[in-house]
Amino acid sequence: MKKRIITFGTFDLLHIGHLNILKRAKQMGGHLIVGISTDQLNFNKKAKKPIYSQEERLQLIEALGVVDEVFYEESLALKRTYIIEHRADILVMGNDWAGKFDEFSDICEVTYFPRTPSISSSEIIEIVRQTK
Ligand code: CTP
Repeated sequence: MKKRIITFGTFDLLHIGHLNILKRAKQMGGHLIVGISTDQLNFNKKAKKPIYSQEERLQLIEALGVVDEVFYEESLALKRTYIIEHRADILVMGNDWAGKFDEFSDICEVTYFPRTPSISSSEIIEIVRQTK
């Protein structure tokens, strides 16, 4: 039977690092579900809103051929609920989060993939700022 794989992120200014992790997650053999963090959640975490709105970020991720399902992640405290509600077998995150989600290994397999080097949304914002 197909495995259900879940991952979470902001996915602002969609870049190759995002695509790589989603492709690797999908290759685990199944149905890929992506939780897109809302503008409000980002604001709470980082005191700034993403460049792309949550609707734009969700639509971009949803349009990728490797993604089967998307939803809004409204609260970090609901992660366990999201994993259960979506009946996820595997939680995938980039290794910038290594160890941070091990608490969910009682309800699903937790896997961290290496990040794609030298790219991030924050770095893109910085480069654009500097070249203005
Ligand atoms: N990711 C990755 N490789 C990168 C950048 C991100 O594998 N170079 C992964 C993250 O580990 C995460 C997912 O993509 O699992 C979504 O990450 P997100 O935080 O939205 O992207 P970043 O580019 O890291 O954003 P920021 O610079 O705002 O932290």
